[in-house]
Amino acid sequence: MKIIVIGASGTVGRAVVEELAPRHEIVTVGRSGGQVQADITKIDSVRAMFDKIGKADAVVVAAGSLHFGPLAEVTPEQLNIGLQDKLMGQVNVALVAQHHLNDGGSITLTSGIVAEQPIRYGVDASMVNAAVEGFVRGAAIELQRGVRINVVSPNVLQESMGSYGPYFIGFEAVPAARVAKAYARSVDGLQTGQVYKVF
Ligand SMILES: NC(=O)c1ccc[n+]([C@@H]2O[C@H](COP(=O)([O-])OP(=O)(O)OC[C@H]3O[C@@H](n4cnc5c(N)ncnc54)[C@H](OP(=O)(O)O)[C@@H]3O)[C@@H](O)[C@H]2O)c1
Repeated sequence: MKIIVIGASGTVGRAVVEELAPRHEIVTVGRSGGQVQADITKIDSVRAMFDKIGKADAVVVAAGSLHFGPLAEVTPEQLNIGLQDKLMGQVNVALVAQHHLNDGGSITLTSGIVAEQPIRYGVDASMVNAAVEGFVRGAAIELQRGVRINVVSPNVLQESMGSYGPYFIGFEAVPAARVAKAYARSVDGLQTGQVYKVF
């Protein structure tokens, strides 16, 4: 299959590419890196990306920024970072992908454990990750031509503990390679509307 991996140079994305590349043709996408450049927060950029790549069988999004900070100080603008970047960025990809993917194609988005296990300073992450999962549930029942959509919800990655460690004290970090298996289940499997938790 021809698979578009957005965020391919990231910690999650690199592991996804490593998992999928042995049996699929991969097109890597990033905002600045990758074979094709696109900014998922801009729908025109997403459309241009799909036009440039042409027909594909699957798209994986392993990108999306969030704001981390205390609730007592958070501003609407800061909360909007996650809404515009991680939520609407991924939604933009799904909205365009539904018309571009081949019949029976798949869309795989990314949420995170904080959707259901909140952490200090994580209100944007809890809100946005839960919303991504809500979008996937809603979209799955309406997608046409056999196109599927799922979301992977990773625990914090072992590879990211250097930067995220202080936020995730007490969490059992998981290896990126294990998280990547969930993306493979979504891409190579047949399920739709699923939240694949890798906790
Ligand atoms: N790391 C973790 O422990 C962890 C745990 C749970 C969930 N997650 C989620 O997994 C996703 C990826 O996290 P990560 O740690 O792998 O991030 P990362 O290492 O910072 O990598 C982010 C990737 O996304 C690309 N990207 C960023 N903004 C983009 C945009 N607007 N349009 C297109 N591509 C964009 C970057 O490309 P360029 O470098 O070319 O800009 C890069 O390839 C995020 O949604 C994160 O919340 C991560």
